[in-house]
Amino acid sequence: MAICKEMAWAKVNLTLDVLGKRPDGYHDLKSVMQTITLCDEVIISLGTGKEWKLSCDAPGVPCDSRNLCWKAAEVFFGAAGIDPNGLEMLIIKRIPSQAGLGGGSADAAAVLRALNRHYDGRFHEEELADLGAKVGSDVPFCVLGGTAMAEGRGERLRKLKPIPDCFFVVVKPAFPVSTPALFRQLDSEEIRTRPDNDAMEQAILRGDPEEIGRLLYNVFEPVVARDHPEIEDIRRMLLDAGAMGCRMSGSGSACFGIAKDEETARRMYETLKKKYPRTYFAASKN
Ligand code: C5P
Repeated sequence: MAICKEMAWAKVNLTLDVLGKRPDGYHDLKSVMQTITLCDEVIISLGTGKEWKLSCDAPGVPCDSRNLCWKAAEVFFGAAGIDPNGLEMLIIKRIPSQAGLGGGSADAAAVLRALNRHYDGRFHEEELADLGAKVGSDVPFCVLGGTAMAEGRGERLRKLKPIPDCFFVVVKPAFPVSTPALFRQLDSEEIRTRPDNDAMEQAILRGDPEEIGRLLYNVFEPVVARDHPEIEDIRRMLLDAGAMGCRMSGSGSACFGIAKDEETARRMYETLKKKYPRTYFAASKN
């Protein structure tokens, strides 16, 4: 029996634009994505000689073939033509679910990376990301990590220069968001403001954290904020505590604020933690 472990890093969307609905029901996006040090851990045992098994230390996570880790393992072994002779996966959860932080996708990507390492790098990174696209739209980015421009469903990726080292304070309000329902709601509305992805790319190229903070934007945010005043409350609190910028991530409901220096980030964390217990301290991860 062999055991492998892998960290599963959360993502945030520094920008998120939805360009339109596609014939396949998905939406074309354009988003600058960034991994952060907030992470889950995935522990895989291979060759157990038993039925596949998945467990998670957090309640409410499906522990069967609905779980993206299970799908990722199926996709990997299918593509590699390998039978692992029994598989057991344990997910240690720290990334909040239904948050727009790509938690499930990060776990699935960690499974792909761990299995690929165990089987001697059978797939190149790009091939592994392509396998990830069969599991979920955010999985390819989570396979690659770092800073990237995502297009298409989210699976067409172009690596960007790493953003300058900075801190992320992530706040998860209590309410969940259904991603498909939010896409449907956005379809019925006109998007009035969009992120400036070109300017964001230039700011990243220049390594300008203030400008990166100023250019954060997510087209889902006004739609979610309309029904949930917590979003504006969190934004105001993070900005008052010194954040360079603050936005909701993905389809929400988590929001993040960015700081250049650790002292400001600690202040943001301490302030928000008092009101929102699910507040997390993280840094950029390249
Ligand atoms: O690909 P994934 O399973 O993560 O997507 C979850 C849901 O989000 C999809 O079923 C779809 O409703 C919506 N989605 C979309 N366009 C995307 C990504 C996701 O409409 N680019």
